[in-house]
Formats: sequence, structure tokens, C-alpha cells
Amino acid sequence: MAAIAQQLLNPVVVFYISLFFLSMNSIVVIVNSAADTTFTPSDNYLIDCGSSSTSNLHNGKTFKSDKQSTSYLSTKSDIQVAVPSADVPSPIYLTARIFVEESTYVFRMVRPGWHWIRLHFFPMENSEFDLTHSVFSVETDDVVLLHSFSITNKTTWIMKEYLLNVTTERVTLRFSPLRNSAAFINAIEVVSAPDSLISDVGSSIVPIGEFTGLSTHSYQTLYRLNMGGATITPNNDTLGRTWEPDLRYLMARGLAKTVSVAPSIITYPEGVSPLIAPNLVYATAIEMADARVTNPNFNVTWRFDIDPAFGYVLRLHFCDIVSKALNDLYFNVYINGKMAISALDLSSITGDLAVPYYKDIVANASVLSDKLMIQIGPINQETGSVNAILNGLEVLKMSNSVGSLDGEFGVDGSKSSSAGTKGTVAAVGFAMMFGAFVGLGAMVIKWYKRPQDWERRNSFSSWLLPLHAGHSSFMTGSKNSGGSQKSGYGNFYSSTLGLGRYFSFAELQEATKNFDQNAVIGVGGFGNVYIGVLDDGTQVAVKRGNPQSEQGITEFQTEIQMLSKLRHRHLVSLIGYCDENSEMILVYEYMSNGPLRDHLYGKNLPPLSWKQRLEISIGAARGLHYLHTGAAQGIIHRDVKTTNILLDENLIAKMADFGLSKNAPTMEQTHVSTAVKGSFGYLDPEYFRRQQLTDKSDVYSFGVVLFEVLCARPAINPALPREQVNLAEWAMQWKRKGLLDKVIDPHLVGVINPESMKKFAEAAEKCLADYGVDRPSMGDVLWNLEYALQLQEASSQAKKDEENRAAAEAATAAAPSPRAVIPPIPTTADVKANADHRSTGGDDDDDEPAAQVHAISEDSGTAMFAKQLTEINGR
Ligand SMILES: *[C@@H]1O[C@H](CO)[C@@H](O)[C@H](O)[C@H]1NC(C)=O
Ligand SMILES: *[C@@H]1O[C@H](CO)[C@@H](O)[C@H](O)[C@H]1NC(C)=O
Repeated sequence: MAAIAQQLLNPVVVFYISLFFLSMNSIVVIVNSAADTTFTPSDNYLIDCGSSSTSNLHNGKTFKSDKQSTSYLSTKSDIQVAVPSADVPSPIYLTARIFVEESTYVFRMVRPGWHWIRLHFFPMENSEFDLTHSVFSVETDDVVLLHSFSITNKTTWIMKEYLLNVTTERVTLRFSPLRNSAAFINAIEVVSAPDSLISDVGSSIVPIGEFTGLSTHSYQTLYRLNMGGATITPNNDTLGRTWEPDLRYLMARGLAKTVSVAPSIITYPEGVSPLIAPNLVYATAIEMADARVTNPNFNVTWRFDIDPAFGYVLRLHFCDIVSKALNDLYFNVYINGKMAISALDLSSITGDLAVPYYKDIVANASVLSDKLMIQIGPINQETGSVNAILNGLEVLKMSNSVGSLDGEFGVDGSKSSSAGTKGTVAAVGFAMMFGAFVGLGAMVIKWYKRPQDWERRNSFSSWLLPLHAGHSSFMTGSKNSGGSQKSGYGNFYSSTLGLGRYFSFAELQEATKNFDQNAVIGVGGFGNVYIGVLDDGTQVAVKRGNPQSEQGITEFQTEIQMLSKLRHRHLVSLIGYCDENSEMILVYEYMSNGPLRDHLYGKNLPPLSWKQRLEISIGAARGLHYLHTGAAQGIIHRDVKTTNILLDENLIAKMADFGLSKNAPTMEQTHVSTAVKGSFGYLDPEYFRRQQLTDKSDVYSFGVVLFEVLCARPAINPALPREQVNLAEWAMQWKRKGLLDKVIDPHLVGVINPESMKKFAEAAEKCLADYGVDRPSMGDVLWNLEYALQLQEASSQAKKDEENRAAAEAATAAAPSPRAVIPPIPTTADVKANADHRSTGGDDDDDEPAAQVHAISEDSGTAMFAKQLTEINGR
């Protein structure tokens, strides 16, 4: 220790340390807040070739003459030329150096890592050489930048921008003219770029997966566009880049329109630095023109020329500056007709509006032709806005397997083995951006406003089935259990897995008429849900995973594990699955009356009576109560909403969709700390604020559900005046004023018993308490709902009796009959005593066999197989 201490005091070491800090200060990116993020390049060579003096450009850059420091240049013979003026954007194009033999510029590097190399060319007229006839190559020691390059139009100036990961102490730029030709250059920039600019990992489209190795490639910027905005010049960009407007690449311009906001409202999250793109990029976008009025079924398309022999990184920049509310905008992104991002939900990633997000997608020969087409379009669903946006786009050409960015030969003459890219595509890529996604999501969640205005569009949010072959290694025996027994070997291991029956793909094809579009009963980012009929006549709901879905494997695994452990009359049952041909299919019991929400509004179904609504609410509450208390370690649903409460043919309510479920905290913990998930509009403000999950978060969401049931309107309706958008806030205001009856479903007016409504609304109100500790347990909610039901029944009974009595009295006016016995209306104490009598409100109908569902015993075997399932999925 003493030795180390002494060393620390050694003046030489101290000197080095301070030098280190000094250089850290001057060169390192400081990502604190948007405002003070700056980047000072440690290497910053700006050379005005052939010029005799320094050029100060209006864009803030100062280019030095290469005469002032000719040490860069090594050449046997060169010619300097100049023109007094020309139609060029900058004076650096007015002078040039012409090389008739191979010549090099050498730049010493202070710091390794990413560097911009920008080459400026203008084939100016001069008496020495006709530059429109020059053909030449430009290479570094290991990257071919330009091969047989020429500019044949003498009025065209060109800037080529490259991004190279420099690992050596010097960068050499070698200009090699073709025989009897000449090379020329007007200006050169070699400038450090931040390390964070390109991460090693992107995602690939075909096959869907993660693409690693981005940092080993070199890049040429082919396009850098500011969608819906003006040109951004280098002095307005955080890294001296130029962004051009997108208009010339936009097809069918009538389908698109521009949108913009004040750049100052753009808020960078942690993890996205303004160095990635300035706020000017995110403050403008292209969106769908009049998406709300015309036929919404179209895409907005941009088209670019590219060389399909190379791979490309497409960096898509998004920032939701169009929505009025969170979770109202979902859209797809396609690249050359292939789904690249399915049901992108920016607000669930960024947690707020006007927060930048970008994504790198690697596209190679398998998707490309000589055109690159980027399309954005709405996902086909009813709720939320029909719209799609794009704020910015960068198209970066990737160096090929021999390090060339132009032509198929490398610097050493070796030939590229194949078109495309040398990075690795992770084989099965469900994980794809999912990790990054969740990671980012977790990082960028911020709390600015009360949660409002949102509704997740996908009623089935979970998905993707990662069951691989190889079950046989732990095939321990068959416990066949119910369902139709057709698929022999499948049953064998699926039941040991605790996943229910195994279905062959052919069987499910037949059941769904080959996944007929007409059989679709639900759509989501994960894929479709189909109704199917098994050959024994059983109706089932078949969820077929879309391999492009970003809703990930984790959620799917959670759901499958949860479902296989849970059996309850008020939980939707999993019947089986299919993983043949890498299909990802789950088969559930069919709930013929669909989501509760459809019976409340929007679908013109006959209105439910108040009694039916109470019974459905009670059923759902039982399901939740069972989740919270019935399972060995309680389970938090996390996504309670009216689309996740499904109704069977008898209108029995069952909770569905456990994709977001989490095990409840154990005794020692008081909460589960987790990235915020769930559906806005239903989201517990405390959970959102503190990211601490308890079962009281479900209680909050359930409170919103109760008001939805009473008022028959969505939890979030952005179309309404501001104060009405959020159902929870709005209903609570009326409740507090004692005027709730003014805003209830008109179908209930006059039939609902006021006492029953009061009790119900009180239960809902308690659920919506700001703090979890102030909210009732699901068991308490259940009692209150049962009480509300008794009040309603007693009152209708009293009414009926009253009517009967009146009728009887009228009929037998002469002969007095014995007085009808009117049952007394129960008091709170009665109901409480009654409810207390049962151990809990939730388990009472456990012993009823759930329809179509084979029992899977809750023995340790199930848990063990669930664990093995996790293991074979490599987690
Ligand atoms: C540049 O490449 C080297 C070697 O492949 C790698 O170690 C380094 O991380 C890369 N730098 C950056 C900034 O990606
Ligand atoms: C949008 O483009 C994709 C890919 O080209 C295509 O599959 C989809 O049908 C298009 N949508 C519409 C509504 O045209």
C-alpha cells in the first residue's frame, strides 16, 4: 500500500494524471443535458488543397492551406490550380491540387476511434488539365474510398463523407490517377467523431436478428436527411454534418405532409445524445397527409439509388412530435417491402412525447436491389391515430469483406468474397433489439406529467414462441390430460413441459382454414389471433407469432410460464402450442364474446345490463384476486384493462394476457423494481413515478376499468376536450361533485339502483387513490362489488315484488291477500359478515372445472418444467 501511495505522489505520475484529465476535459463528450453537450474533436484537420491562404468559411469551419503545412503532403509532382469564382457553396472549391502520379496526404492521429473523412471535389476549368477526364482512386492504408472515380460534369461539385474507425497512429490518403490521367482534390477534412456515434450492434431484417460487428466496418454516408425540414448546415449540427431536405426522395408527395415544432421542446433522453442528431432533425418530420380523413390505408415512401453489392446501415430517427397523447401512435416501417419495425410504439420506448429515438437497421443484398425503398405506414387497427412519422434518415454504405467502399477489390487487390457485409447475424433474432429496447425504455422513462391520454393498442401484447427442438432430453413420461388426443408424440412432451397439448402445424392450418384472413379475431404487433375449430369441434383462439415482432421473447416466456402454472375459472386457459417449422403458435380457450371493451362501446353490441356489468366486474376481480393471492408467490398482472378481460359464451369474465406479468414482491421486498410497462390510461401514477411495482398497481388499473364499465367510454379518448381525455381524472371530478350520474352510460340511467352505483363508484374511487397504500386489496374490491350487486338485486327484487303486489292488489281488490314479504336490503355489515364467512372472495369457484381445459396439477413438476423451459430457451 505504502508503495502505491508513494507512487501516487511521484511527480511524474501526477503529471500524467493531470495530463490525462486535461485531455479528458478537452476531448471527451460530456453527456449531461441536451444544452451543454458539446464535442471537441481531438483530431481536426481541415485542409484547403492548393490554396495559398486560410479560408474562414461562413459555416464556422476554418480550412488551412496545405501550403502552410506541406508536411501532410508527399508527392513527386503536383499542380495547383484556382478559379476566381464559380457556382460552388464554399471557397474551398475554388482551388485544387492536381496529381499526375500517386501522391499521399498523411495525418497524425491524437486519438484512435471514429473519424470523419470528407473529400471535396470540383472539376474546375483550368489551363493545366481537363479534370472532367480525370479518373482516379482514393484509398487509406486499408480502406478503398473511391475506385475509378470521375466527375464528368464540370459544374458539379461533390463532397464524399466517410466514417472510419482509425486504429493506427496515422491516416494516409493515397490518390492514384489512372494511367495518363490525373487525380485532384479541393479540400480534405479528417476529424474525430465520438465513440458513441456507432455502436457495435444493430438489427438486421433478413434474417430478423441482431447484427454485431458494426464497429469493424467503414462507412460512407450516402444520404443524410432531415425529414420535413430544411437543410441543416455544418454550423447548426452538433458534429459539423450536413442534413438535406428529403423532398427529392419522397414518392407520391400528396400522401405526406410536413410537421414541425419548436426545437427547444425536444428533450433528449439518457442514451441518446444530441451528438447523434441535433434537435433540428427531431423537431421536424414527415407524417401521413390527412390520415384521419382519407382512406388511411397507405404508406409514405422514400426511394434512393444504391449499389446492391454493398450492405447498408439505415439509421432511422424518430421523435413523436405529432401526437397529443402518449401511446396513441403505432406504425410500421418497411425496407424494400420487408417489415423492418412492426408496430413501433415510440411512447412506450421513450416514455414521453418529443423525445428522440433512433434505430440502426442493417440491410444487405438479401433485401436490396438498385433501389432502396423506405416506407412508413399505419398498422391496421381501429384505436389510436392512423398515422406514421419519420424525422430523419441516414443511409450509410458499409465496407465489404475486403474493406472496400467502392468496387469489389480491397487495397491489397484481394477480391470481395461476396456482396454485403462481414458482421454476424445472430441466428434466431427474437432478442433482436429487444434487449436494447427494454434497456432504452428503462433508461428514458421520465416523469413530466400525470399519465394521461394513452391507450395501448394491442389487446394481446405478449408474444413469440421460442420453443426449440430437443425436448426429448428431459422427456420424462406422459401425463396426458384432456383436450383432444390426436397428436401423439406432441402430447407426450408438451404435457411434461406444462404447456398443454402439442398441436401439429397441419392441425392448426386445418383448424384455421390455413390461417384465413377471415378467421382473424385479433391483431397486434406480435401477429394475429385466429379463431379455429379443432376436429372434435372445440373452438379455440390461435395466436400465431409474427417473427418480425419486437414484442419479445421475454414477455412470451413469461406468459407461457404464468399460464401453465395458473388455473382458474376467471383466467383464460392455455390449451396448447405448436413450434413446428419455427412457428410460434399458442392455442387458448376461445372466448366467444370477445373483450369486455367491445360490449361497452365502439362496436354497437347490445348494451350490457347493470347486473351483467357487475357480474363481469366481479369475475375479473376474482381472477385478479386469485393472481395476487392464489399462486404460491403472488403475481402482478401489470396490464389490466378492458381489452384484457375476455367474455365466454355465457359472459363469464376471464383475465387474459399475462405477457407483462411479474411475480409479486416477496415478504422481504416491498415492491418489484422494474421498467414501467403496461397501458397508459390505466397506469398507476405511483408505479410510473417510482417504477416500483406492487399488486396495488393492478388495483389502480382495475379502478379505471370500473369507471369504463360505468361510463362506457375509453380510458383515454384524445378526441375529447382536454379535461375529459382521461377517464380516471374526469370521472373522479364528477364523483367528488356528487354528480357521477350525469356522466354514466345513458343505457344505465333509470335502471341502475343509485345505492348500487354509489357503492360501485366508491370502490372505483378507492382503487384510484394516489398512493398504493391507500388503495384496497382486490379482495376488498371484490366485497364491495358483491355488495353493489346485492344492492342492485335487492332493489330489482323489491321493484318486482312491488309490481306483483300492485298487480295482485288490483286483481283482488276485494279480497285482501297476505302482505308480500320484501327482503330487507342488506347493510354493509351484513355483506361484510357474509363475505368474511368465506375464506377469500377469489377461490370459491376454483373447484368448478374450467371448460375445455385439462387440469395440470400444481405440483413441483410443473415448476420444474417451467424452469427447464427457461433453460432451453437459453436464459
Ligand atoms: C475500433 O476498432 C477496434 C478494433 O476492431 C475496436 O477495438 C474499437 O472498439 C473500435 N472503436 C470504436 C469506437 O468502435
Ligand atoms: C405498405 O408497404 C408494405 C411493404 O411494401 C406493404 O406490405 C403494405 O401492404 C403497404 N401498405 C399499404 C396500406 O399499402
